[in-house]
Order: sequence, then structure tokens, then C-alpha cells
Amino acid sequence: MSQLNILEFPDPRLRTVAEPVVSFDEPLEILVNNMRETMYQANGIGLAATQVNVHSRLLVMDVSSEQDDFMVFINPEIIAREGQQVHEEGCLSVPGIYANVKRAEQLTVRAQDVTGETFEKDLTGLAAVCLQHEMDHLQGKLFVDYLSPLKRAMVKKKLEKQRRQEVS
Ligand code: NI
Repeated sequence: MSQLNILEFPDPRLRTVAEPVVSFDEPLEILVNNMRETMYQANGIGLAATQVNVHSRLLVMDVSSEQDDFMVFINPEIIAREGQQVHEEGCLSVPGIYANVKRAEQLTVRAQDVTGETFEKDLTGLAAVCLQHEMDHLQGKLFVDYLSPLKRAMVKKKLEKQRRQEVS
């Protein structure tokens, strides 16, 4: 297993719309394992392929506090949604930035597993937030897009400042 490089906002590659996964083969399995490793190493609760510069419809997540509930969703589709919740979100591609985003409270997702088998899963609370956040990545969308243009410009400035400090 190896750790993958995570793209950071405002990298334009994060705006790529992912293509459906069609081959359920060994390279896919390796990618899933590497994404799992990368997510856990970064202490994230979710990671979309887009964030590691692979533009395929696939995401991994684990919202448990023990990191013992790993999930993978390939070609995910939300087939039902209900209610609303506001949660303070962060993102491995937008480090150090947190903001409230309004999302559906509960949903049903249909996806495929690494073998290509289709399954459906009901998600609620944080798991529902995380899935919606990661599915946005597959569309080239980031949580900061929900902020006002002014706030987004501030986020960009703050990140640029952070990066300058890392270099010096
Ligand atoms: Ni994210």
C-alpha cells in the first residue's frame, strides 16, 4: 500500500468531473486500498478519487471514531433523501478551513462494491453529510463553493498564507 498525494484547493484538477468506473479489476482494488491508507493517515473521514487525481466515480469513508467502519462506494447514486441538517465541514483538500453546510439529513445510496456488486445503504447524520460531501468532489465541487464569494476569497487567501509559512 502506498500513500497518495492529496490535491489542494484551488488546484483546478479538483474541478474535474469523474467518469463511471467500468472495470472491477486488480488496479481498482489497489486504488481502493491506497485511498483507504491515505484517508486514515491524514485522519480524514472520507476521500473521493478526485482528491487523489483519479477521475473515476469512487469514494471511501469511515465516520467511526475507532476507524473500524471502512466503506467504499463505487458509482454512487443517491436514490432517496429526506430532511435537512447543518454540519460544520472540513476537507483534506482545504486544510484548516471549517464551515457550516446545509445537507440532507438522511439518504439512501445505491452503489457498487469493489467486485462490482450493487448494494443499497441508508445513511444518516455524519455519514450522510460525508457521503454528500464526497459525491460533490466527484462532480468537481468543493464545500467552499457553498460559501459566499467573499468568504471563499478569504479561504483562498488564508490557504495561500498557510502555504507560504510552510515553505519558509
Ligand atoms: Ni473533501
